[in-house]
Amino acid sequence: MTVILIGFMGVGKTTIAQALAAEFQLSQLDNDQFLCQREQQTIAQLFQLYGEVGFRQRELQACRAAIQQAPQVLALGGGIIESATSREFLQQQANVLWLQSDFATCWQRIQTTTSRPLVQSLQESGLADRFQKRQKWYHQVATDVMDIGQQSPLDLATQIYQKY
Ligand code: S3P
Repeated sequence: MTVILIGFMGVGKTTIAQALAAEFQLSQLDNDQFLCQREQQTIAQLFQLYGEVGFRQRELQACRAAIQQAPQVLALGGGIIESATSREFLQQQANVLWLQSDFATCWQRIQTTTSRPLVQSLQESGLADRFQKRQKWYHQVATDVMDIGQQSPLDLATQIYQKY
């Protein structure tokens, strides 16, 4: 079992990865957390220090290192596909699962978070634009798509486990 989870902020990548690890005793890595440990900075600090472009470079470096560790489940940050280099890298990977949802569902879940710098800076309309812009990129790198619908993280984790 090996799967890389991608999708927009708030779709549930981290929660589903944790459910997969807890329920099925799988090793999992969350690339945002891994990146923060490597850099000894929070996501907000990394955005502030290096800007979004610099953040994306470091995010990809962390992703490469995370894949080297061969976790069974790897959850990536929602914006990694903004970088063309990251997209090229991800296109070489197997089992890249796009967790898909509508913007309203994601927005409902992320609007109160304070740890995501883009939520603070772009607000709802800017994020909705990013959401639209990113669809084709998720599509481009994904080997599979799963609509999260109204399903619980455990239901989704079970389906993912059965699929991979
Ligand atoms: C981002 C998503 C975040 C995190 C950072 C940027 C994005 O990860 O990497 O705040 O650009 O969509 P999650 O998708 O895990 O929230």
